[in-house]
Amino acid sequence: MSSTPHILILAAGQGKRMKSKRPKVLHPVLFQPMIHHVLDLACSLSQASIGVVIGHGGREVQEACQSYSFVRFFEQKEQKGTADAVKSAQGFLESQTGHVLVLSGDVPLLRKESLEKLLSAHEKTQASCSLVTTRLENPTGYGRVLRDSNSCVLGIREEADSSSQEKEIKEVNAGIYCFEIKSLFEALSQISNQNRQGEYYLTDVVEILVTDNKKVVGVLFEDSSETLGINDRIALAEAEKTLQSRVNQLHMANGVTLQGADDIWIDTRTKIGADVVIENGTRIQNSEIGAGTWVQSQCRIEFSKLGTGVKLKQGSVIEKSEIGADTVVGPYAHLRPESVLGSHVKIGNFVEVKKSIFKDGAKASHLSYIGDAEIGRDVNLGCGFITCNYDGVNKHKTVIEDGVFVGSDSQMIAPVTLGAGSYVASGTTVTRDVPPESLVISRGKQVTKPGYAKRFLKK
Ligand code: UD1
Ligand code: MG
Repeated sequence: MSSTPHILILAAGQGKRMKSKRPKVLHPVLFQPMIHHVLDLACSLSQASIGVVIGHGGREVQEACQSYSFVRFFEQKEQKGTADAVKSAQGFLESQTGHVLVLSGDVPLLRKESLEKLLSAHEKTQASCSLVTTRLENPTGYGRVLRDSNSCVLGIREEADSSSQEKEIKEVNAGIYCFEIKSLFEALSQISNQNRQGEYYLTDVVEILVTDNKKVVGVLFEDSSETLGINDRIALAEAEKTLQSRVNQLHMANGVTLQGADDIWIDTRTKIGADVVIENGTRIQNSEIGAGTWVQSQCRIEFSKLGTGVKLKQGSVIEKSEIGADTVVGPYAHLRPESVLGSHVKIGNFVEVKKSIFKDGAKASHLSYIGDAEIGRDVNLGCGFITCNYDGVNKHKTVIEDGVFVGSDSQMIAPVTLGAGSYVASGTTVTRDVPPESLVISRGKQVTKPGYAKRFLKK
């Protein structure tokens, strides 16, 4: 198309068939609200002029789309059908020239290349309307495409209004159209709601244009998985599965091993280096995984960055954190937001880290809680180490300088600093700052009474 079209996304419907309090277009498909997928697609074509029609749960939808700052929102006060939804943007669109691409907020799997096919067909044929169609073995729920004996599109019949003969038609309307703006609004002004659902159907525009001798072109998409419309939770699960397989295949083609790919869920924004191995049951959202990293089964990684050669062992959870090269984490470790691990760090079993820094070579190998702390280079934190960072009102910081050795079962009553090279004996509760290279020990002296236990138990 010589000029990029305006893009309008219909997203005002409630989605009754979802049986949900949440607006339909906010139900996630691979961690992201389904409307984000449609917006990402729209942006990949042009950021110049994108509008979204909101209505049911409009404020929530608008909030969820805040990161798309260039999008304009149009409110459809009452959900009277898809034609009425387009009319909500009439004030804006009518003042524009050219064409508008109408997308549906509940059709999230379209590919850019396929839409470009629609746009180029629209341009080549100089049509007033080009619409995407596909063939389905089970077309239930979709509008059927009516064609004449020369295979020219005559109109679209909604399922609810179809005769039993029309219901046999396997070619369906995908709800994706490109319109010449002037013809669209001329046709919209003639639409009525005299149908089984009492709605103003955008699909009726097609028949009106044909009757007006305007050119309408149906563009058949062979891959019907792209045009799946999500109206219920069954289609939602199907969409997620399709997108999962698409994303996973892309990573595998780029040199990532997915062991049990059917049960590995990676969102569309995650970037993964070559020779990464990911095992089954793992979920990764909006993260970066460096080359040669091994992510074992049942891990969850979100908004995080893993360096190269990291080993993330089974069942670990990484949230909004960074892990340096060749660091080992887990099994069953939890990095909570704002944790930053350097390289060659070790975080072992059942260790929880929150908003803390571990410099290169530091270790906490077993059963520990490290919160609001800065752990220096090559520090060793023994088993059962705890930062007592919260006094019930405020959080306090623990600083452990380079090369400190902390024996097992020690607690730091923050705020507290252990100087470089100091040594904390096992079972110590540190309440005051410790100067560098000192020994600190706070446990009571051991008392042993030979034979006492035997005498005591006899009594
Ligand atoms: C629609 C088409 C149908 C097509 C199918 C493809 C119509 C009348 N029917 O049916 O031919 O096969 O999509 O998926 O268009 N919306 C609004 N305001 C409204 C009603 C709907 O903004 O008043 C939005 C919805 O949020 C949704 C989209 O329009 O994103 C489609 O609406 P939906 O109710 O899902 O239509 P379908 O029954 O799927
Ligand atoms: Mg739908």
